[in-house]
Amino acid sequence: MTGNNGSLGGMPTQYVLPDMPYDYGALEPAITGEILELHHSKHHAAYVKGANDTLERLAETRDAGDFSGLVGLEKTFAFNLSGHVLHTIFWDNLSPDGGDRPDGELATAIDEHFGSFDAFRTQLSTATATVQGSGWGVLAWEPLSKRLVVEQVYDHHGNVGMNTTPILVFDAWEHAYYLQYRNVRPDYVQKLWNLVNWADVTSRFDAARGSGTSLTVPST
Ligand SMILES: [Fe+2]
Repeated sequence: MTGNNGSLGGMPTQYVLPDMPYDYGALEPAITGEILELHHSKHHAAYVKGANDTLERLAETRDAGDFSGLVGLEKTFAFNLSGHVLHTIFWDNLSPDGGDRPDGELATAIDEHFGSFDAFRTQLSTATATVQGSGWGVLAWEPLSKRLVVEQVYDHHGNVGMNTTPILVFDAWEHAYYLQYRNVRPDYVQKLWNLVNWADVTSRFDAARGSGTSLTVPST
């Protein structure tokens, strides 16, 4: 499935499943190789296919001039695109050499916007562990007020403040942990902290702050 740059009905494929940045077994014992392989090669792959398939359906909709199914297609596209984006970030956010705490300006920003690292950690852990149904806990950069925020995302695309940029994401879907942790999602969340690749989070933080996406109020 990786590297699928084929075409769908003459349209170039828009989304491609990325290779993992480490072996499937690299995050053991926190996450088993079996879970990681299923998670990447089946679940993440399905979101990539879903996003591409929905783009194709949207093109067919435009060609036919029949937009009666647009509401469902737009929801399906948001779901699959967001699933693809979040999983892509999630793999890079984790590392066999992860853990500890951030330093530098990211650490300062966390202290400023959450009070302390421990308070931030508790908020993100709780947001991840208490998502109703399936979702994510997300640390994001909010460009309007130029601050870090924690978002509790439903499915892949609900409960999100528009224009926020995720920089650290914790997958709270059962497919991420149930084979190993059963129903004890908080234990899985605590293990994730030992895998966080703060260098990756820091690079995303720096890119989000410097991307020039801060909103401006139009003068007219
Ligand atoms: Fe997932």
